[in-house]
Amino acid sequence: MRRHQKVVVLTGAGISAESGLTTFRDSGGLWEGHDPMQVATPEAFAHDPDLVQRFYDARRAALPRVRPNAAHHALVRLEEELGDDLLVVTQNVDDLHERAGSRRVHHIHGRLRSAWCTACDSRHEWEGPLAHRPACPGCGSSALRPDVVWFGEIPHGMDLVEQALWECDLFVSIGTSGTVYPAAAFVHWVRRDTLELNLEPSTGAGDFAESRRGPASRLVPAWVEELLG
Ligand code: APR
Repeated sequence: MRRHQKVVVLTGAGISAESGLTTFRDSGGLWEGHDPMQVATPEAFAHDPDLVQRFYDARRAALPRVRPNAAHHALVRLEEELGDDLLVVTQNVDDLHERAGSRRVHHIHGRLRSAWCTACDSRHEWEGPLAHRPACPGCGSSALRPDVVWFGEIPHGMDLVEQALWECDLFVSIGTSGTVYPAAAFVHWVRRDTLELNLEPSTGAGDFAESRRGPASRLVPAWVEELLG
């Protein structure tokens, strides 16, 4: 009998770093001279929609060039064993969990490969750019924006996440700096075991029962083997 029956995994940019997608706060880099954090707001979009669309177009265009890594694959292996007792909650807008084969993935910050029409409130799977203001397939207006959650907006499906955290026996946080709420507070919503797997100590590392340091591609497969062992 497994020690942990129900598991919730939270992932952040760190799990995709070894696939070649840059994290938000590690690189210190700028995007065309802009802090990436400052193009991820409704205010930035209202002020300069072309700039914001180009930022997300570039990130969407990068997706076909990257592949899931060993950490994503290990979570698929975990889902094969746990089935519906595993929920992956991700802050990432990339699609690497899905491309690895995970099925129970919840994107609280939305997805790059989805476009949201602010005119008719419809959502559409989207591969190409948005900066040229294509027509919404639903209503024909030019009001499509990236279907991602910006600072100041409400993350998706928090009721579902809150329930899963309340019910789980183990919460594992992977590759997130713990600086963005509500995800940074998830560890406080858990009644049982907690574990952090991260390259560096996150802001809230001390709130976890256990913290392990290292790259996700090493730590996550090792932890999955240990759990299933
Ligand atoms: N393996 C494990 N962890 C890693 C690796 C790696 N190979 N590389 C980096 N990390 C860790 C870093 O040490 C850092 O703590 O991943 C974390 C990445 O932190 P952030 O860049 O802040 O990313 P994240 O926590 O996902 O950001 C949260 O902020 O900008 C918003 O909406 C955006 O979803 C994002 C949210």
